[in-house]
Amino acid sequence: MGRFYLTTPIYYVNDKPHLGTAYCTIMADVITRYHRLFGDETLFLTGTDEHGQKVQEAAAKRGLDPQVHCDELSERFKAAWQELHINYDIFFRTTDQFHKEAVQKSLRDLYDRDEIYAAEYEGWYSVSEEIFYTEKDLVNGKSPTGNEVTKVTEKNYFFKMSKYQQALIDHIHQNPGFIQPESRKNEILGFLRQPLADLCISRPKSRLKWGVELPFDKDYVTYVWFDALLNYATAVGYQQPGREKEFTKWWQESGPVHLLGKDILTTHAVYWTTMLLALGIKLPRGIFATGWILNRDMEKMSKSKGEVVNPLDMKNYVGVDGLRYFLVRDVHLGNDAPFSPDLLIGRINNDLANNLGNLSSRTLNLVEKYFDGKIPAPAVDDALANELRKTAEGVGSQVKAAIEKMAPSHALEAIVEMLNQANRYLEERAPWKLAKTDLNATSTVLYTSIEVLRIAAILLQPVMPEKMEELLRRLGGPKADWTSVSKWGLITVGQKVEKGEPLFPRLELPK
Ligand code: MSP
Repeated sequence: MGRFYLTTPIYYVNDKPHLGTAYCTIMADVITRYHRLFGDETLFLTGTDEHGQKVQEAAAKRGLDPQVHCDELSERFKAAWQELHINYDIFFRTTDQFHKEAVQKSLRDLYDRDEIYAAEYEGWYSVSEEIFYTEKDLVNGKSPTGNEVTKVTEKNYFFKMSKYQQALIDHIHQNPGFIQPESRKNEILGFLRQPLADLCISRPKSRLKWGVELPFDKDYVTYVWFDALLNYATAVGYQQPGREKEFTKWWQESGPVHLLGKDILTTHAVYWTTMLLALGIKLPRGIFATGWILNRDMEKMSKSKGEVVNPLDMKNYVGVDGLRYFLVRDVHLGNDAPFSPDLLIGRINNDLANNLGNLSSRTLNLVEKYFDGKIPAPAVDDALANELRKTAEGVGSQVKAAIEKMAPSHALEAIVEMLNQANRYLEERAPWKLAKTDLNATSTVLYTSIEVLRIAAILLQPVMPEKMEELLRRLGGPKADWTSVSKWGLITVGQKVEKGEPLFPRLELPK
């Protein structure tokens, strides 16, 4: 048993959530729920990034005061996460007073120690990315990711990021799992082969009002990323008198794992880590970059590129748990993956309606039909049942190993394998025929199958909390904790079960 602190990026409130942003949050929720199941003490942080030019512009477009706009949009995120069964511990907002004060303390601290200095600056600014580029960064007059840039010359404040370049490289080499996946780590190491520039951490108020004021120059606010990245630490008490114990517990002793999209890896792996080195607090336990959910043109799905599938719309058709299952099963954490209604529906039909759904309805149906709805005691020795039992007893540790490696899709593969084996077993023994001649042998088949269903339901709870709660209820409400996962024979003989309506009805592609 340990402690597990997981974060998602905090989302810009320039738009409501879409499947791309929901993806990271769902994955974080699933991984945290697994750790909770393993018995870890967990902390799951998500929230909204509310300062900066993008948000200021989004509010202006709606003719709203930025704070009013943020209050409204952050509520939309909360509502969306609730509908998607996201069980976060902290919903963070960067406009909260305690955070703004902690950011100012951090800025003051760095300024007093000459880690921040003022200089004349010329650069190319991308509003949509909120990032400055130098002339040589530009590709055909645009940012490296293809966004419009404008030339800006002004006095600004800089954080001495370059000073920490070597320390960061050393840390990455000394801690092999620090940046994952491996390919992303190599990308960052490649980036760090070039000399690192200092980081512009201010914006003049003449251009941007909506931000945290610099404590040493009231004509400036701080760069939105400087403010936003600090959320991971201020959320657990950093720079807040009275919250030292909490900070020690979650930051210094445990340390966060940051889950984020590959497009914002540099800000996390380079800006954030060097900020922490300068502030003199520990670096995170890990930084894991996910891939993108792609649209049908195989591009990153996003609101600005139009054609965004709203997860809330899809959930109305396939159910929230089905959508969650698809994302965990078919998008290997770290890789890009396409999304389309037919892929989603195909997966749900295959794994949930057929594999899991059939196993449970066939089994529970026969228990009702031949055993008065009560779980029968196994009555004969059955070699195939023993093999299945062996698989089932081992699947929990496979799931745990996969989650600890941040490979939740592999966890599902192990569970699916067990369910496949159970369905093959049922086909082999054909209890629907067997029951007519040998009730003892049938008892063993059904008992074995119910045990597999019990174990599968516990292990699938983090992915499909609502559906698996229902399945466990139909199985008579066995204990659903971690110690029950790898123990065989915990289902109560004689316990009433309930067949119910299909848990996962077969879906047709909507017209
Ligand atoms: N506010 C910053 C993060 C600050 S963290 C201190 C930000 N916000 S965002 O709303 O633009 O994006 C948040 C996350 O959503 C990023 O991790 C990004 O990768 C993710 N995604 C947005 N579209 C996505 C897909 N189509 N697929 C997967 N993730 C995507 O950046």
